[in-house]
Parts: sequence; structure tokens; C-alpha cells
Amino acid sequence: MLNGKTIVITGVSSGIGARTAELAIAQGADVIGIDMRDPPAAQGAFLKGDLSDPEGIAAIVRQLPQRVDALLNVAGVSGTGGAAVTLAINFYGLRLLTESLAPRIREGGAVVNVASIAGYGWRANLARAKALVGVPGFPDVAKILADNGVPNEIGYPLSKELLILWTQIAAHQPLFKQRGIRVNAVSPGPVETPILTQFRTVLGDAKVDSDISRTGRAGTASDIAPAILFAASDAARWINGANLAADGGLEASINADVIGF
Ligand SMILES: NC(=O)c1ccc[n+]([C@@H]2O[C@H](COP(=O)([O-])OP(=O)(O)OC[C@H]3O[C@@H](n4cnc5c(N)ncnc54)[C@H](O)[C@@H]3O)[C@@H](O)[C@H]2O)c1
Repeated sequence: MLNGKTIVITGVSSGIGARTAELAIAQGADVIGIDMRDPPAAQGAFLKGDLSDPEGIAAIVRQLPQRVDALLNVAGVSGTGGAAVTLAINFYGLRLLTESLAPRIREGGAVVNVASIAGYGWRANLARAKALVGVPGFPDVAKILADNGVPNEIGYPLSKELLILWTQIAAHQPLFKQRGIRVNAVSPGPVETPILTQFRTVLGDAKVDSDISRTGRAGTASDIAPAILFAASDAARWINGANLAADGGLEASINADVIGF
């Protein structure tokens, strides 16, 4: 279902993005990869750029074609660099790239945002998430985090809470909805990629090990990539504004504890 489609994928130089690009190409898609680091192996077209600030994003958008079928927002950072840069890359930059590219996504096309089980708290922390998603454009991130009293350590989960909330808002935003562009999220649990070591630093070994023990093993990039490509494909034509858990059952296990069943 991806044959002949032009798919833009961020974060293609490592982990989940690299595997998603490889699988999309194997399925006949033309992939345009974006990353700040060079890919270890050439896969489709590649644009090197930094998605952490508006200038870097504008430079990337200028080089993208006038028509694409889907945008897969996979690039992300773990939070080790602090909350401001994490929010800039994982949420505000992602949103700016997506809104900038939206007019070039074909009618009926798709956006897929890679969120995380770490964003599980979006509903519990809804007032904060609404306030931060409600800030338009690409703000002075350090300032709005200070204004909202956000501690530096929660940058990663907060960025994914905002992403899950915005995915649902964007699905009904005229920019996407009027042209039938679906906007969905895919949320992995722990996945064996280079970022997982950093999560152990940010979230602690106990949290990561507990998540892994709930499902028997960590995921692999090959477990996640098909879910991302499904959400991007026409097979998911009636799925919109959803947060698809690709986590081996981790969210269900946490729900059982939190809700009680
Ligand atoms: N691995 C996990 O355990 C896990 C779990 C849940 C969610 N995720 C999410 O999956 C996505 C992919 O993560 P991964 O596991 O493949 O990690 P990874 O570190 O292997 O890959 C991330 C890629 O994003 C790129 N990137 C980071 N900042 C960038 C920037 N400013 N501009 C351009 N490119 C940038 C990196 O260079 C890297 O190639 C992330 O959004 C992450 O939050 C990962």
C-alpha cells in the first residue's frame, strides 16, 4: 500500500526511524529521510538538518518536494539535554515542521507522530498539557517552561504528553481535516535502540526494568516500524486522532494498575 508513495521520515539515522525507512523502501515507497546526523547506510534521499529550531526547520522545508504522501515524525531526544531542548525537538519543532509541510501533503495523506508510553500522563496532567499546547508557533521554550514551573527532569514525558494531546487536536484542525489528512500517534514502550541507555539515566533503571518485565522483553525497531507504516497507509484510512500503543501490552498492564482491573 506504500508503493510509489513519497514519504518523509525524520530521525532516519538511527533506531526506529532507520528501520521505518528501510521497511518503507522495501514496500516500494520513495523515502526522504531527515536527521541531524549522517545515516550509517544510504537509504533513499537524505536531508541533513536540525529540527530543534525554526531556522533549521525552514531550511529543511525549503528542500522538500511540493507534494508528499505522508510525514512520519520519528526523530526525538531522551531528555538528558534538559527540558527546553527536549520540548523544542520532541514537540514544538515537530509541530512546526508538520504545520509547515501540511499544505504539501496530498489530500487523504497522513501524519504519524512517534510518541511514547512516557506520555501516559497526558490525561492526568491535562491542564498543563493544554496550556503548553495552546502556545502557538515555536515559542521561547525555556521561558514558557519557567513561566509554567516545569522542572527540568520531566522534559521527556511532558514532551510526549503534549504530542499525544496535539495529535488529537490536529486531527480536527482545518489545516489537516479540510483535506482529509489523518494525524495519528504511535506510542512504543521501551525499545532496544541507542536512546534506551539514556532513558535509564533519565527515568532510572527501576522504571525501565519494570516496564520491560511487564511485557517480557523490550521492543525492537522492527516491532515498531510496521505500526508506523500501517498508520501512514491507506489501510488506516478510518483511523484518525488515535494513539496506537505499539508496546507489547505495556499500556494495558499500566491501565490495570491505575484504573484497577
Ligand atoms: N527507544 C525507545 O525506548 C523509545 C520508546 C518510546 C518512544 N521512543 C521514541 O521513538 C523515537 C525514535 O527514537 P529511537 O529509539 O529510534 O532513538 P534513536 O536515538 O536511535 O534515534 C533518534 C534519531 O533522531 C535524531 N534526532 C534527534 N534530534 C534531532 C534534531 N534536533 N534534528 C534532527 N534529527 C534529530 C537522532 O540523530 C537520531 O538519529 C523518538 O521520538 C523516541 O522518543 C523511543
